[in-house]
Formats: sequence, C-alpha cells, structure tokens
Amino acid sequence: MESTRKQLIELLENKRGHISGQELSDQLDISRTAVWKHMKELKKDGYDIEAVQRKGYKIISYPNKISGNTLQWGLDTNWLGSQMHHFEQVESTQAIGHEMAKQGKPHGTVIVADEQVKGKGRMSREWHSPKGKGIWMSILLRPELAPIQAPQLTLLAATVLAELIDERSDLQPQIKWPNDILVNHKKISGILTEMQAEQDQIQYVVIGIGINVNQGLQDIPADLHHKASSLKIESGQEWSIQETVQQILRIFEKRFDQYLSSGFSSVKENWEHYGYRIGEEVTISTMKHSWRAELIGIEPDGALRAKKANGVEEKLYSAEIHW
Ligand code: BTN
Repeated sequence: MESTRKQLIELLENKRGHISGQELSDQLDISRTAVWKHMKELKKDGYDIEAVQRKGYKIISYPNKISGNTLQWGLDTNWLGSQMHHFEQVESTQAIGHEMAKQGKPHGTVIVADEQVKGKGRMSREWHSPKGKGIWMSILLRPELAPIQAPQLTLLAATVLAELIDERSDLQPQIKWPNDILVNHKKISGILTEMQAEQDQIQYVVIGIGINVNQGLQDIPADLHHKASSLKIESGQEWSIQETVQQILRIFEKRFDQYLSSGFSSVKENWEHYGYRIGEEVTISTMKHSWRAELIGIEPDGALRAKKANGVEEKLYSAEIHW
C-alpha cells in the first residue's frame, strides 16, 4: 500500500480518541487537503471514519469488503504483493496475469478477484468461482529458472496451501498429486500454473490459486458433493478472505526464497509430508489401463514415483489416482 496511507491508518489506529487533521498533516508531512483526500479514499475502501468538528477523525469500523489497499494493509512481505490488483468480477485472474506480464508488471504482482465468470481449471476444465466465497488469485513470477523447473513451483504452491490450512486450523490438509489440496478426502483447492518461456529461461509464470473458502453445501453443485468441499464446511467456521490471502502470500514468499537459496529438497520434503496416500497402495489409471502400486514420492521434475507389486519403480507424468 502506498506508505502515507499505511502511516495514516496506523496513526488513526494508535490514537484512542479522535486525531485532528492538523496533527495528521504534521505527522505525515502532507497538507490538510491531502489528509482529506486520503480520508475519502479510505471511505471508498470501506473504512467507516467519523469526522467531528474541532476533534478530528476516528476509525469506527474496518472494511469488510476487499480492495487492493485492504489486502496490502498489514501485509508484511518483502516483494510478494508489492503490486496488488483487486477486481470485483473478472473472467479469469489468469488472463489478467498474462496481460499484466505482457505490460511488464513486476515479479510478485498479485491479482485477486471476488468472482470469476470464466474460471479456468487444469485440463481445460471450468473452475467454479462464486462471488465472495473463495480465493481466486493469480501470482505473477519472473524467476530466473529453466522451463523444466516450472513444475517445482506448482508443487511449492501446493505445499504453501497445505501449510496455511495446517497453521490456521485443526484440519489435516493433504496434497493429492500433482497439486490438489484435500481435506477429509475432498478437494478444497486447486492450482493452475501457466508459463511463457524461451528455450532455457522462463520469461514469466502465472500461478493461479483457487480455494473454496466460505461456500456452504448449497453453494457447491450437488454432483460434486462427494469430492469437493470448502474450508468453512470442513472446519465449521467462516474464514477471513483477506487474512487468508495475506497469510498465503507470507508463506509463499518465505518458501519461494528458501527454494531459490537452497533448492528443491525442502519443497520435496514438505510435499511428501502432506502427500496423499504416500507410502500406501493405490490404483493408478491412465487412458489405457489401471494397476495397483505403492506411491513413493515426487521427483524434481514433478513426476510421481510409484512402485508396482513386482518391485519395479516408475515415474508418472499424467495419471489418476484412486484408492
Ligand atoms: C484445478 O483445476 O485444480 C486448478 C484450478 C485453478 C483455479 C484458479 S482460481 C484463480 C486462477 N484463475 C483461474 O481462472 N484459475 C485459477
């Protein structure tokens, strides 16, 4: 968030009663008119601010609607979310991520929407993204990595979401290969990574994160009830979209920096810690056949390693897992 605005909110918060326009103008080193303009912007962002003559300003209540500003307020990341773009309704935050990448927006730009009307899932599936019920977000990254490493970023993103759920609740998140987040065997979240690359260098990656947060059962299509759920349904409570986005960005930045400095091993370890049915026997199926195998773990290229009953190990790049 623009730093004056951030300081202004801090000043308003730290004062028990009202704080005068003059004091704000002195402390922020801006004119009284500029203070007034900032107040107008805060109101637009949903802050309820009382203005009393000769006393000054006081925050009465905080916004319950999300904006780029409210998302940045209190966000303590170094680079992730330095540009935060919020939209009420978009076709897909992924499409906006690509547009912004082409406009030259920086590494760490984040796009969040209240609603997507053409949300995209993996394998050209549709991603249901109802208004205000979930996190529909894309992160633009410009990492100095080879295209072959892109799947590692997807696996990293999955561990971030599992860690988030683990930290904030008593739920036990699991990652179903490659990157579905499950709670109680039902899908809560999915990740879609799209990349633009030259032969040996990623130009940019757009990581799309969809999380079912506050849907009730009635908000999820009946034919999906057996396999899809939301954080609210599973935890029995509402989750703050704003705080959850901020926490994702915080964990993501930490894990991404760690990945760049120390490599894939910590991601692999984390992924396998949350990995669904790792060490267990499952049914694996492709278009042509299906067979039983034990899931062993993941490979640096994003493949799934499994061991057949005859002891032969195999690497899988696309398959469905059942149990
Ligand atoms: C999956 O199929 O599991 C991946 C779903 C990814 C959905 C997210 S929501 C934000 C971003 N915008 C999109 O259109 N898709 C991704």
